[in-house]
Amino acid sequence: MLNVRVSNNQQSSTSIESLFNDLERVPHNLIEALRRIQSKYGYLPPEGIKAAAEYVGVPYSQAYSVATFYHQYSLEPVGKYRILLCMGTACHLRGNDLNHEFLRTMLNIEKNKKTTKDGLFSVEVARCFGCCGLAPVVVIENPDGTRKIIGKANARVLRAVILKIKRSEGKR
Ligand code: FES
Repeated sequence: MLNVRVSNNQQSSTSIESLFNDLERVPHNLIEALRRIQSKYGYLPPEGIKAAAEYVGVPYSQAYSVATFYHQYSLEPVGKYRILLCMGTACHLRGNDLNHEFLRTMLNIEKNKKTTKDGLFSVEVARCFGCCGLAPVVVIENPDGTRKIIGKANARVLRAVILKIKRSEGKR
């Protein structure tokens, strides 16, 4: 049995293998194994990738490649509020790369990281949301699962939204 200790908001120790109960041990189930880990923990810890690779019988390097290829997987814990910036053509051309840089700077996110140190926000890029007429589009996923779509996003609007969320969380 694979016993894996995973760190997240609530430190927990669990048997990841129990997530794979009904899953056949074949390589083509790698994506499903990773999906279940991501769904359970909100991200893919290295131990989880290793457990999935071992379970379905593929090398760790292959599982890692898959985990880094699909943007729905995250290798680090995501923030309580997940900010997704569309980098489809229309949104990219209309300034979402600048919005991306603005948010990273405003939230003081370290290089090669996407989540703030306090775990309140993560800033990520995404593919087209299908509402290109509103470009540039930013989506905020709230902790309760609702989404706020911000069209024609710019630094002024984003700053106001971030400050409002911080205030609601009792932070300045
Ligand atoms: S390109 Fe951004 S919503 Fe389509």
